[in-house]
Amino acid sequence: MSIFLETNRLTLRRFTDADEDNLVELDSDPEVMRFLSGGKPTPREEIRGRVLPVLFGYYERFEGFGFWAAEEKATGRFLGWFHFRPGKNAPRDGEIEIGYRLRRSAWGKGYATEGSRALIRKGFTELGVERVVAETMTVNLGSRRVMEKVGLRLIRTFHRDGLDAIEGFEHGVVEYALARADWERELRGVR
Ligand SMILES: CC(C)(COP(=O)(O)OP(=O)(O)OC[C@H]1O[C@@H](n2cnc3c(N)ncnc32)[C@H](O)[C@@H]1OP(=O)(O)O)[C@@H](O)C(=O)NCCC(=O)NCCS
Repeated sequence: MSIFLETNRLTLRRFTDADEDNLVELDSDPEVMRFLSGGKPTPREEIRGRVLPVLFGYYERFEGFGFWAAEEKATGRFLGWFHFRPGKNAPRDGEIEIGYRLRRSAWGKGYATEGSRALIRKGFTELGVERVVAETMTVNLGSRRVMEKVGLRLIRTFHRDGLDAIEGFEHGVVEYALARADWERELRGVR
């Protein structure tokens, strides 16, 4: 197993072909997919033919960035994933987009916050990241709360085409960000 990062309760590791079932199951829960696809599951053929190859592509193209499978240390159970990647929503050098998707049984335990904090710390201290950004539907309050808890701040609300299958799309999308200097300043404040 190729471990990328460990926190108190989580192991973040690379995805492999053996994760096909994990991803199919994760995306089969309409509650998990509520603000992503309007609740529609991702078909197995798409996981196998498109999703997994995209994930593997990150490992080839980037050192230290991409999608990481999250396991609960205590049980070894697959919980979902985090991404921490250069991407279409983070086009500038040194800018990395963070995101997360966890199975419903794992919600409300602080896991998304714990994994995100660790990724942000690693990004700013070891990987040369200058700015972390994130996006979610305006109405995805759980996701926004995680962004806020890990120190990201609201930058803007905007509208994007093609999201009208998602409940609350009329309220648009929110963009959050955290610059390295602000992260360092907040850390100093905490001490
Ligand atoms: C978003 C998600 C990753 C959060 O994971 P999690 O491990 O439950 O998050 P945490 O426990 O670290 O923190 C969640 C916070 O949001 C709050 N929250 C959750 N749902 C909420 C809601 N509907 N309204 C307001 N706050 C909410 C929780 O109370 C908690 O805040 P608190 O610690 O101040 O009480 C998880 O719900 C998920 O995977 N959702 C489906 C996929 C998704 O939408 N991903 C984001 C796409 S951008």
